[in-house]
Amino acid sequence: MGKASGYRCSVCERSFGLSEVAYVCPHDGGNLDVLIDFDAIRRAGPASIRQSPETSIWRYLPLLPVDDPGHAGTALHAVGWTPLLVSKRLAGELGLRHLWLKDDGRNPTASFKDRASAVVVARAQEIRAEVVITASTGNAGAALAGMAAAAGRPAVILAPKTAPPAKVAQLLVFGAKVVLVDGTYDQAFDLTLEASKAFGWYCRNTGYNPFTAEGKKTAAFEICEQMTMAMPMGNVGSRRGVPPQWDSPDAVFVSVGDGNIISGMHKGFRDLKDLGWIERIPRLYGIQSTGSAAIATAFDRGTETIEPVQANTLADSIAVDLPRDGLRGLRAATRTGGAYLTVTDAEILAAIAALGRREAVFAEPAGATAYAGLVKAVAGGQVRPDEKIVVVVTGSGLKDVRAAMQAVGEATVISPSLEALKRVLH
Ligand SMILES: Cc1ncc(COP(=O)(O)O)c(C=O)c1O
Ligand SMILES: [Zn+2]
Repeated sequence: MGKASGYRCSVCERSFGLSEVAYVCPHDGGNLDVLIDFDAIRRAGPASIRQSPETSIWRYLPLLPVDDPGHAGTALHAVGWTPLLVSKRLAGELGLRHLWLKDDGRNPTASFKDRASAVVVARAQEIRAEVVITASTGNAGAALAGMAAAAGRPAVILAPKTAPPAKVAQLLVFGAKVVLVDGTYDQAFDLTLEASKAFGWYCRNTGYNPFTAEGKKTAAFEICEQMTMAMPMGNVGSRRGVPPQWDSPDAVFVSVGDGNIISGMHKGFRDLKDLGWIERIPRLYGIQSTGSAAIATAFDRGTETIEPVQANTLADSIAVDLPRDGLRGLRAATRTGGAYLTVTDAEILAAIAALGRREAVFAEPAGATAYAGLVKAVAGGQVRPDEKIVVVVTGSGLKDVRAAMQAVGEATVISPSLEALKRVLH
């Protein structure tokens, strides 16, 4: 038997066997947490991970609910272990002392979503599912199409027809069957559920498939392990006399659409805490666009009831009417002492320019949203200057060049003469 032993519903807390259900709770539609047997890795300890030669999410295989990543040497094997960049210049501007950017635009298909898709494709192989399907605002689809191509499997992707052209190009280049829906992401989501039932295809839909959060939790593992490697040893284990093996940040900022990245990262920090490898779970801050703020609205109202909105934001990756992992995404903030904040499209565009100009990180709008949230949190006094803060940059700016140009304007065109050059330099 593998390490995954079953599921637990996040709403009613009923448990299910692995073969009993595949997606959400049959009683209330709640998102399922995968239950994993950590006995072996608990005995081996964190040193066994530190010694791993893998520089990808697969260094954490003992903590993941699959047993074989499959297809060694392919793009499936190159997911994760993205850089945790020290951000001195933005930290200085904000009056912070310890700021890192986790640059997940550096994944094989240029977004955080590769983490989830790699684990779902590994799971598909284990259960011998032939075709994989997903709805996507663009990135989850590109990630699934890419990982499926690496594994030599067919993928079907449904995306809104408004998805940025670069994302659609990725889907096509990776050889997926691409269907653009004349409607919203939420409509594509529901159609995908129908199609997967009708045709017996394995559905990766964000949050709906319990293995997506499992892939996403690897970012939490990487942040803690990379922070520990970057710190002088004296900084590790200094609090309250119990020496933990890995350090953890005080606060992590994440952009939120469906809520699955933030809920997956919350699970990752919880796993490390359960294992005793970190002493405390960071405060998690979910950042939504004011035009797509279903979870942030519930947070502000102090309720766990999440009402759908009509999403309207230039940050297409987080344009979601009804978040499909809303409850767990909300609890990631409420149960860690974090919060939800909203930012305007203008603030998101300013964040794209700041990340690019100060730190050479090129983010798509949803990728820059978390940084816009940090700016707001600093202004609101929600983080202290001496805290260790991580901002997750979830997607590359090359995915949406039109938005990038909106952030920084057009380049000047001149005739090829020194005189003309001098004029623009003045
Ligand atoms: C670049 C980027 N950032 C953030 C998100 C939000 O993730 P989630 O929908 O799990 O909240 C997405 C989701 O597509 C994304 O592609
Ligand atoms: Zn349930």
